[in-house]
Amino acid sequence: MVNAYLDAGIQSRMNRIISPIDNRVVMLAIDHPYFQGPTTGLRDMSTTVKTLLPYCDCLMTTRGAVRSNIAPEDLGSKPIMLRVSGGNSVLFDDLSDEQVTVSIKEAIRMDAAGVAVSVFIGSANQQRTILNLTDMINSAEEYGIPVLAVTAVGKDMARDLRYLALASRICQDAGARIIKTYYCDEFPKLVEWVAPTAVVVAGGKYSSPPDALEMAYNSVQAGAAGVDFGRNIFQDDNPVGMIRAIGAIVHEDHTVREALEVYSSCLPGARKLD
Ligand code: R5P
Repeated sequence: MVNAYLDAGIQSRMNRIISPIDNRVVMLAIDHPYFQGPTTGLRDMSTTVKTLLPYCDCLMTTRGAVRSNIAPEDLGSKPIMLRVSGGNSVLFDDLSDEQVTVSIKEAIRMDAAGVAVSVFIGSANQQRTILNLTDMINSAEEYGIPVLAVTAVGKDMARDLRYLALASRICQDAGARIIKTYYCDEFPKLVEWVAPTAVVVAGGKYSSPPDALEMAYNSVQAGAAGVDFGRNIFQDDNPVGMIRAIGAIVHEDHTVREALEVYSSCLPGARKLD
């Protein structure tokens, strides 16, 4: 039976981002240059995209990267989660002073499946960034575009359940359809407290294949819809092995050990990305 109240545009885009078959997603985050400039692994971003695009479900990136680094023939092959907040750089200690940088019209013109806005809860710019999120949700929902909220963590904030659940719940209440946050102790509670909103987990700084895969495994076992990893994929010596191993955890419920076998099977011929 057709649900007369179904928000078809939102649902259709959500289905492009998070597979309706298993409610999971491997999102590849390559939005770092918006504040970090030429990040290792993303200096030659066209090659990074060409190499990893086949193995991700969704690409989280920026307007400039879509224009400059996705080959014309690849456009539309994977949904884009378009970062639409920014306005700072690593040259300042405090990165929280963000504003909305891309209009909803531009996101529609670029065929974004969703748009992403960061909030910096507990920072000097907390209110500004929450209003960036709510303003974008107001515009995006009008056109059936889901908004992903990123719970950015300032240097002085602890990445613990108390903080991340606070930030995530604020994003849910604002109307975010997907929340991107960090893994922490007692993570299942965070997922439970924001249910049914989908949660994806950020990878953080490059660690090691076993550690990053364990984080991915623990995240989905705790109920997360998947991961939105960046550096742990594109800065690894075996980036294709890494994203395929993550895919096996997210979509095939592989254990970390099984995923490491997938990783190892891709080692011959592995090429580091610049
Ligand atoms: C966070 O605000 C941005 O989306 C980052 O670029 C993203 O979270 C980084 O991904 P990772 O920490 O896995 O490199």
